[in-house]
Order: sequence, then C-alpha cells, then structure tokens
Amino acid sequence: MAATLHHLHCKPYKFQLSKSISSSTRGRKCTEIRCLASASSFKSYTITLLPGDGIGPEVVSIAKNALLRVSSLEGFELEFKEMPIGGAALDLTGVPLPEETLSAAKESDAVLLGAIGGYKWDNNEKHLKPETGLLQLREGLKVFANLRPATVLPQLVDASTLKKEVAEGVDLMVVRELTGGIYFGKPRGLITNENGEECGFNTEVYAAHEIDRIARVAFETALKRRGKLCSVDKANVLEASMLWRRRVEKIALEYPDVELSHMYVDNAAMQLVRNPKQFDTIVTNNIFGDILSDEASMITGSIGMLPSASLGESGPGLFEPIHGSAPDIAGQDKANPLATVLSASMLLKYGLGQEKAAKRLDSAVLDTLNRGFRTGDIYSVGLKLVGCKEMGEEVLKSIDHKVPASV
Ligand code: IPM
Ligand code: MG
Repeated sequence: MAATLHHLHCKPYKFQLSKSISSSTRGRKCTEIRCLASASSFKSYTITLLPGDGIGPEVVSIAKNALLRVSSLEGFELEFKEMPIGGAALDLTGVPLPEETLSAAKESDAVLLGAIGGYKWDNNEKHLKPETGLLQLREGLKVFANLRPATVLPQLVDASTLKKEVAEGVDLMVVRELTGGIYFGKPRGLITNENGEECGFNTEVYAAHEIDRIARVAFETALKRRGKLCSVDKANVLEASMLWRRRVEKIALEYPDVELSHMYVDNAAMQLVRNPKQFDTIVTNNIFGDILSDEASMITGSIGMLPSASLGESGPGLFEPIHGSAPDIAGQDKANPLATVLSASMLLKYGLGQEKAAKRLDSAVLDTLNRGFRTGDIYSVGLKLVGCKEMGEEVLKSIDHKVPASV
C-alpha cells in the first residue's frame, strides 16, 4: 500500500480557526478549521517565493516548476512573486526581512520559502542575522501553528539510522507553537552582571490564549489522524510548562474523542528513538518543537524529505522545508528538493485548497522514488544517484505520467 505523506485530511480550503463555531451536540466550544474558498471554479493565485540562501534557490526553483505543472493540469493559474529574505536580503538591502518582502507575503495567497542562513552572516549582530528575518516573517504573518509531519516511506526505510523494525511504519505529526515562547519572550538580552561577567538571558513565556489556540489545532489534527495526542512539556521544572499542561487539559474537555497523554521533553526525545511508532500527533512549544522535529526527521531517513506548513487564524500560510540552507553543498546541485516539493504540496492543500493538485505532487514524489531516483542524502547502493536538477526533472515526468487517485 502506498504510504500517504501526511494525514491531516481536512476539507478546508483556507485554513482558518474560528472560535465561534459550535459544532458539538454536547454544546462544547469547538475550534473548526473551515473552508473559506471553493476549489471548484477557475482560480488564479499569487504565491510569494522566498528562495533565501544556500540551497534555498535551487530547491525553490524545482518546487516552482512542479507547482506550475500541476496547476496547468488541474486548471488553475499561479502567479509568482520572488522576494529576498535572510542573507540574500541583507546583502541587497541591509536588513534580513525588507518591508517589501513582508508586504508581498501578506498580500499573497501563500508563501513558499527555501532556507535562510550561511557562514557569511553567522557573526552578524542579532538584528542583522538571516534567522531574525525568518522569525520576523513568522511573527508578521502570525502563523502560530507549525505542522511538521514525519512519515517513514517504505521506499526510504533503509535510509533511516534506526533499525528497520523501529523505523518502519512511523507516521507522526509534530504541531509546534511558532510565534511565542522563548523565541520571542521578553525580557531577553545580553548584559554584564554585577561581577562584570557577561550574561545572556531569555524568557520562556506563554499566555493562556496562545496555549489554547495551538492546543485546538493539535486536537483537530489528531482527530483527523489516529486520534492520539501527546503534549510535550517540562512541567516538572518550568512554570510556563505547568500552565501549558493545565490549559491543554482544559481544552481536552472539548475533544472527548482524542486520547491525550503528557510527556516530559527529555523522555519524549528518548521515546522518539526508542519507539517512535507510539506517537501519532505531538503538540509542543516553540523550542521543544524545533528540537524534536529535527529528531523526528532523522527517523524518516533524511531531513531533506520533510516539509512543513505554518498557519494562522487567517491570511496566507508559510510553507517551507524543515531543513536549513546547507551552505556546505549550496550551488553544487546536490540538494534534495523533495522536502520543498512536499512543502509545495502542503501549500496547495492547506494554503489554496487545491487538494487534487496536492495529491498529484505527493504521488509524483512517491513515483520518482519508486523509479529509484535518489539524491545523496537518501542514496543506497543499487539506486540511481541524481543531483537536485535531475531529481526535479524526474518529478516533472512523474507528474505528467501519474494520475492520482480521486480525492
Ligand atoms: C526551523 C529552524 C529555525 C527555527 C531557525 C532557522 C530560526 O531551525 O525552522 O526549525 O529555529 O525555528
Ligand atoms: Mg529547526
């Protein structure tokens, strides 16, 4: 059976969380992810492309071609606007997120990002770091819910560093809070203390409403998957986590059909490599989600395969591979473009409501893998080693030949 790449099968078309909708027979308050746009009539969409740095431009150009091909097959139009972000923007304009980039992103229907960062800017002051541009973009678009699926494809089970019996069949989703916590908390800074010693400090802070809204996204996600949600925190030590746990338990009352469990983050990190199949949906704060999603990605064989979607209550979503800019292989045609192609698929599904087109992309990726094509990160003996461009061309061939099962 062909593995599906992600399982948040909502019918929605633009993802929106609406607190006011009550859909329960028990009168519980329910956040619904609802459909704002019909995908049936002819449509035209604007996509902001943010290639960024390192391998970003290489992988985004592959995904753009794949998007164009599926849109023409599915009969809708895409208009792309390419804007600078990260190091590329620093070099061009002196800031990592120019105002023009943020407004273009806000005005578009969805945003596809490559990656940001590189050695050249590593020693910049914080406000001039490429990473700051990405955080400003997430904050500016208010995309608080970051969905990071990690699925072990049967085709790639040998690429996992875990034993086959441990990795095989893993299919989990990390729901990471993306616009709060220690990444954004104040006070923060670098100071010299009373002993004349340098100190750096940050604040892990969550308000109840921030926990409630990400918890609702996570419960909705779990409902559409296998109905299990594990909330990861450090409630044995951190006050912010104590509140997190309390609020998640409160929201759980609205979702009697979801089986909720809690896990401390250190244990979760261990369980992910010990027995990852125990997880269905994981919900966690910004920093734990950052760390655990990288860990989860390696179960699947390569971080070069994993897409992500960042969504807010309204407005365009931000879609990006979870890997970084990989400056060591940038410009060498070695990058794996599949995580970005799969992010483009999430863009079609969650951002534009073009679910059939998304399926076409997912099937094309599986078909390309089935035909034996592999970039270096997922290569094993006997298969066909290809570069980024050739992988992109093979995906296009698969799009042309593979007609997806009806949605
Ligand atoms: C990610 C990245 C970013 C993060 C960096 C580049 C700021 O690691 O998207 O996981 O920490 O969120
Ligand atoms: Mg990360």
